[in-house]
Amino acid sequence: MAKIKTQIKKTRFRKREKSKIFFNGRLKNKIQGEIEKAKDLKELNEIFDKYLGKRGQISQILKSLKNLPKEKKARIGKETNELKKLLQGKIEQKKSDFALQIKKDKEEWFDITVPGKKPNLGHLNPLTYVKRKVEEIFQSMGFSVIEGPEIENEWYNFDALNIPKEHPARDMWDTLWLKDEKEKLLLRTHTSPVQVRYMEKNNPPLRIVAPGNVYRHEATDPSHEFQLLQLEGLMIGENVSVANFKAIIQEFLIRFFNKDVKIRLRPDFFPFTEPSFDVSMSCFICEGKGCQVCKSTGWLEVAGAGMVHPNVLKNSGILPKKYNSSGWQGWAFGFGLDRLAMMKYKINDIRLFRSGDLRFLIQF
Ligand code: FA5
Repeated sequence: MAKIKTQIKKTRFRKREKSKIFFNGRLKNKIQGEIEKAKDLKELNEIFDKYLGKRGQISQILKSLKNLPKEKKARIGKETNELKKLLQGKIEQKKSDFALQIKKDKEEWFDITVPGKKPNLGHLNPLTYVKRKVEEIFQSMGFSVIEGPEIENEWYNFDALNIPKEHPARDMWDTLWLKDEKEKLLLRTHTSPVQVRYMEKNNPPLRIVAPGNVYRHEATDPSHEFQLLQLEGLMIGENVSVANFKAIIQEFLIRFFNKDVKIRLRPDFFPFTEPSFDVSMSCFICEGKGCQVCKSTGWLEVAGAGMVHPNVLKNSGILPKKYNSSGWQGWAFGFGLDRLAMMKYKINDIRLFRSGDLRFLIQF
């Protein structure tokens, strides 16, 4: 009877041992899952207390080992201690992950309630506003906007425009020459070369404007700069005349200034137009009374113009009407856009535009 009792005890013990081993495996997965899911340090500490703390489940298992036979005690004790170590490691790892995240969050954290810094937005130079407005007006009158290079060669800046070498007319423009060994290059002194470049590639009838910078080796004063913005205009057709020019220019100025503008055409000389004239408008700065800008005349010269010289048409590959009744004729002009801007905004010194003086520029 005693033997049977001992046998039953042993069997029960074995069963308990087996279930403990099985229990350890399941426990391991369960605790690992919980550690992984822990959202913060608080949850992690709770897990620690629940399993590894003094009264934790694993600590209880370890305490209960003392009742086991030596051999089992050693084996199960070893396994449980390994599990304990593994879980401690996992918890430590998770803790340092949290610490890293907290540090990162602190670094990236910003206070959305702090008022933002208002960026200083730049804006366009008044000359750019004027250029855009002028382009818009001419486009609405059927003109295309064309561009040409600012570095030119002698042919386009002078020869093709009927200004041969050694001709005194070249002195009308104080030229800035570039150092180039292969070709004699210069900074264009006017936008008129664009006329030739365009006519070479396009057949009449033509209607273009070509805005752009030009450069002159000139002393500056309130109405003269060494870099200026010009607007070339060109209209070629069968019967295009000075009357068309006057009408277009008058209309353009009215639309640009939004009021009636008095203009004056006077005979002038340009090698590339015949006849030639200069276009002046009544000075808006002094309302015609006379000031430093209009040199006390009440008028400011804003453009040079004329009927395109037959030699220029020929140089550009277009048959002039002068030589053949089925040929072409037309006018061209060169506006100084800086001076138009001066009139529009009542600016009494052209040098302000490119001075970089913010006190001036922020007013536009
Ligand atoms: C010319 O440059 C000719 N190419 C214009 C032209 C084109 C005539 C087509 C005939 C046919 P001029 O040097 O006069 O011309 O200059 C034209 C305009 O540019 C002047 O009326 C003036 O408004 C402006 N301008 C000329 N020089 C300066 C300067 N140094 N500073 C500011 N504006 C200037």
